[in-house]
Amino acid sequence: MAREATINTLLEEERIFHPPEDFVKQANVNSQELYAEAKANPRLYWGMQAERLDWFQKWDKVLEWNPPFAKWFVNGKLNVSYNCIDRHLCTWRRNKAAIIFEGEPGDSRVLTYWDLYREVTQFANVLKGLGVRTGDRVAIYLPMIPELAITMLACARIGAPHSIVFGGFSAEALRDRINDAGAKVLITADGGWRRGKVVPLKKNADAAMTQTPTIEKAIVVRRTNQEIDMKQDRDVWYHELMAKAPLGCPAEELDSEHMLFILYTSGTTGKPKGVVHTTGGYLVGISTTHAMVFDVKDSDVYWCTADIGWITGHSYVVYGPLANGATTLIYEGAPDWPEPDRFWEIIEKFGVTIFYTAPTAIRAFMKWGRKWPSGRNLSTLRLLGTVGEPINPEAWVWYYQNIGGSRCPIVDTWWQTETGMIMISPLPGITPLKPGSATVPLPGIDADVVDAAGNPVPLGQGGFLVLKEPWPAMLRTIYGDDRRYIDTYWTRFPGKWTYFAGDGAKRDYHNYYWMLGRVDDVINVAGHRLSTMEIESSLVDHPSVAESAVIGKNHELKGQAVAAFVTLKARAFSELKSAKKSFKEIEGELKAHVAKKIGAIARPDDVFLTAELPKTRSGKIMRRLLRDIAEGRILGDTTTLADPAVIADLKQKYESRES
Ligand code: WT7
Repeated sequence: MAREATINTLLEEERIFHPPEDFVKQANVNSQELYAEAKANPRLYWGMQAERLDWFQKWDKVLEWNPPFAKWFVNGKLNVSYNCIDRHLCTWRRNKAAIIFEGEPGDSRVLTYWDLYREVTQFANVLKGLGVRTGDRVAIYLPMIPELAITMLACARIGAPHSIVFGGFSAEALRDRINDAGAKVLITADGGWRRGKVVPLKKNADAAMTQTPTIEKAIVVRRTNQEIDMKQDRDVWYHELMAKAPLGCPAEELDSEHMLFILYTSGTTGKPKGVVHTTGGYLVGISTTHAMVFDVKDSDVYWCTADIGWITGHSYVVYGPLANGATTLIYEGAPDWPEPDRFWEIIEKFGVTIFYTAPTAIRAFMKWGRKWPSGRNLSTLRLLGTVGEPINPEAWVWYYQNIGGSRCPIVDTWWQTETGMIMISPLPGITPLKPGSATVPLPGIDADVVDAAGNPVPLGQGGFLVLKEPWPAMLRTIYGDDRRYIDTYWTRFPGKWTYFAGDGAKRDYHNYYWMLGRVDDVINVAGHRLSTMEIESSLVDHPSVAESAVIGKNHELKGQAVAAFVTLKARAFSELKSAKKSFKEIEGELKAHVAKKIGAIARPDDVFLTAELPKTRSGKIMRRLLRDIAEGRILGDTTTLADPAVIADLKQKYESRES
């Protein structure tokens, strides 16, 4: 058993980057002592961190733990909207930029904390006027515009849990989420801008609302101005309601465990899970980590590029930054519109100092080439971050050099929708960085890497990533399904209340964590467990490769064989076209490269060059579909793909290539 659980990890990354001296001097956290303090008494530590918020009533007890159900800051009373807005109004921050908004067409808006107070309290009154009460669920389906932050803060103000559905989701996905949550009101927009085109949100919402019996009203924000249908008695314009809504609305004094929001997350299989987050613990967790990990100062312009429809946007675009009185930037559109330097243009325009994005985006920047960032002034940046998947060392170093000018620390932050807050990450003023490692658990976080029996594996070996103690921003349950909550996260290691994250990881001899991807992305070649991520990482290390996806393909002798789908960088591709190199030559080169980097055991049997990889709307490569193709099966569920045409084309080319 134990033996089987071990993931063989063969890739070694040796480079170390120490925090620059001037960064250390000004860092929010500049001493290792915090780790020891938190470890000595985690509850005391979190109780201390909770003091950074304003409470209407102080808690009696930091934690009540009836595994696997937690209550944090028991009997404490507070309000998230109050903490994100009102408490800044009696300080100089009243006139500080809370939100800087850049629309895709180039329009921009700045909302001060006072502006936010006005808009949020007015909208809270709108909701109340429509009969929304504390505890009622509100669905939000909006583009990345200030109204998204405004409406979620208004929900939080009156204690109506929100369920935000990412604007890239389809009508059916929206319908299912509305129905699972039993939402009473839907907030949407006529449309949003994406690569110069209108995303027809209201049209999708209309289709969804033909089958959502609980929806009483739909509030529609005008953004793109095209014709839409407004259904009488159900649909109302946001601006019309706001024009009549009074300013000022008391922030409800909510219990610390009051449900703040539901956020649906799709596992690799099964229907989406409604992850439930509550008020006090969540806000303590995210405001603490936002301040420490991003080293945020009042002078910063902080930009997290995630859509607010994902947990990253909830925690680190809206609630974390605003609770800390920071300036947070929201950009509506695509990174390559109108040109592939749009992000760099935005950084230059607003003087962004902290930039947080995803490895998949970084690999796209690499593919587009360094000429795009190098044409812009990025000298205001002082800290970079990544999240969402393991970052391969090549992409890390590219990001470090080409975006950070070799001067900015990079925080590689590991966490999940379920954890609510960052769990494993460097603290940029004190943690030496190794490209590709999320480094160590944050103070107050108790993680481990274990085998199938739940026993810690020795350093240097791979296993399952687990969390051994509750943490304040942890999910409380799956909405309406405590059983599924218990089964999915808490029963993997019987007899121990250990949270199973679903990820493989290893720790190196410095106790640094290396994420090895989801455990279902682990393949077994001739009895050796290999991380698909490690092989991908070695492929991307090759100068011709832009991105790769590795899967295990059934193999008679070896159990599984490595199959790699690879996209090439523009230059390598044009070389190929001008016939300097054949497909076969490049494929052979790549196989040899993996064998050299990791060992013959990892050498792909099959390398397939393709123009695009199939991805979900959040940018995750769908390896399951690639497995279907490689094994000649009918494609499984493709409804969560960003672009279904990619997979159809890939399947056809794969099957028709000469063998
Ligand atoms: C899964 C969670 C909350 C972050 C956005 C995604 C993977 C996330 C990292 C990282 C390696 C990472 C894990 C995790 N992941 N961050 N820094 N290094 N892997 O949230 O959709 O809930 O996905 O993303 O596999 O379990 P999510």
